[in-house]
Amino acid sequence: MSRFILCFCVALLQLVSEATLSDPIYEGDTWVEKDSPLRIVCKIPMHEPYTLQWTINNEPIDLSLTGEIGYIIEDDFLESESALLSILNVQKTQPLHAGSYRCNEFSSHGHLVLVLSGEVVETGFKYGQSELILNCSLPDDKVSWYHNGTLLVEADNLKMMRENSVHMLKIVKPKVAHIGSYTCEGSGKAVTDFRVAMEPIVAALPTSFNIVEGENFRLPCVVYGYPTPNIEWRREGEEGQWESLIADGHFMFEPNNEGIANGTLLIEEVKLDDRDNYMCFASNDLGNHNGTTLIRVIDKYAALWPFLGICIEVIVLCAVIFVCEKRRNKKQFDESDNEQNNTKHTGNAKDSEVRNRK
Ligand SMILES: *[C@@H]1O[C@H](CO)[C@@H](O)[C@H](O)[C@H]1NC(C)=O
Ligand SMILES: *[C@@H]1O[C@H](CO)[C@@H](O)[C@H](O)[C@H]1NC(C)=O
Ligand SMILES: *[C@@H]1O[C@H](CO)[C@@H](O)[C@H](O)[C@H]1NC(C)=O
Ligand SMILES: *[C@@H]1O[C@H](CO)[C@@H](O)[C@H](O)[C@H]1NC(C)=O
Repeated sequence: MSRFILCFCVALLQLVSEATLSDPIYEGDTWVEKDSPLRIVCKIPMHEPYTLQWTINNEPIDLSLTGEIGYIIEDDFLESESALLSILNVQKTQPLHAGSYRCNEFSSHGHLVLVLSGEVVETGFKYGQSELILNCSLPDDKVSWYHNGTLLVEADNLKMMRENSVHMLKIVKPKVAHIGSYTCEGSGKAVTDFRVAMEPIVAALPTSFNIVEGENFRLPCVVYGYPTPNIEWRREGEEGQWESLIADGHFMFEPNNEGIANGTLLIEEVKLDDRDNYMCFASNDLGNHNGTTLIRVIDKYAALWPFLGICIEVIVLCAVIFVCEKRRNKKQFDESDNEQNNTKHTGNAKDSEVRNRK
């Protein structure tokens, strides 16, 4: 019985510890040159030591590789941070080491390794371009294409062709998802690498904003592109030329939701003369793109003026009515005074009449 309770407790503890396991934290380079060392540090914050298992693209890593291209794993327990540490090393990285690494099966994400071998073909595309063709000259009859270490299969927007000794990968209507590293691999592990970049594109900003004077205003700029574009904010000057904004406490910059530096413009306590056209200007090695918007500033008292106007109108009207009423009352009072005198007279007249009749 006591053994059963013990088992039950252990199972419960395991359940709890599994549920409270945090995702591992990875450190290491994504782009690794061929023949240079690969090092990925995986840190699992936890309280109970735990079995580690390194996988690449969801398959166990190949532990049969030996020598300079073999995997060497060092495990350690960091008492100070109560974290489990595992370091994966390869002395001379090869294309076969490219892929997404995870250090235990509970990780929801992995660490991507892309191997750059020898010469890298740098190319790029512009959003909306009809196609992008990568040319790989290998003597092989057949080659395998990889994107970020994942084997590619033909699809409607992905065609693999061969013309003489040139193998071609045609990407139809390339999009953001197509940036990254491409590898063309032949039978003899001969490879050609491509780094596919994308010219920046700024998602259209709303045409205009109406901001009440004195409020804080935050304007994020959504930008796509690779390598990650630089974002600069500009303001339209007097003569229609664009001037760069500098962070001065009134204008400030923050990363946008995608974490791109300076991706959000912040205006602290908007002033009336902040009214202007503003531009989000994104650029990388390939080119640039921009988005603009008009910021209108509404006077803090703008809503108050009509209200005050109505108040004044009401007060004036009341005063006029009051004065008129007073004058009328006075007139009426005078008139009723006369009337009273008249009745008195008639009364007297009646009296005298009566008297006369008597
Ligand atoms: C590959 O070759 C085609 C013509 O055959 C050319 O249009 C294309 O630009 C080339 N691609 C690169 C990345 O140079
Ligand atoms: C491929 O890698 C690049 C560079 O790290 C990354 O920006 C891109 O999102 C990746 N794409 C995919 C589909 O994994
Ligand atoms: C952000 O903007 C400031 C200008 O105020 C500039 O000095 C800085 O280099 C920018 N950072 C990046 C990463 O573009
Ligand atoms: C902003 O984009 C427009 C339209 O794409 C272009 O005509 C203009 O030259 C660009 N401005 C700058 C400063 O690059």
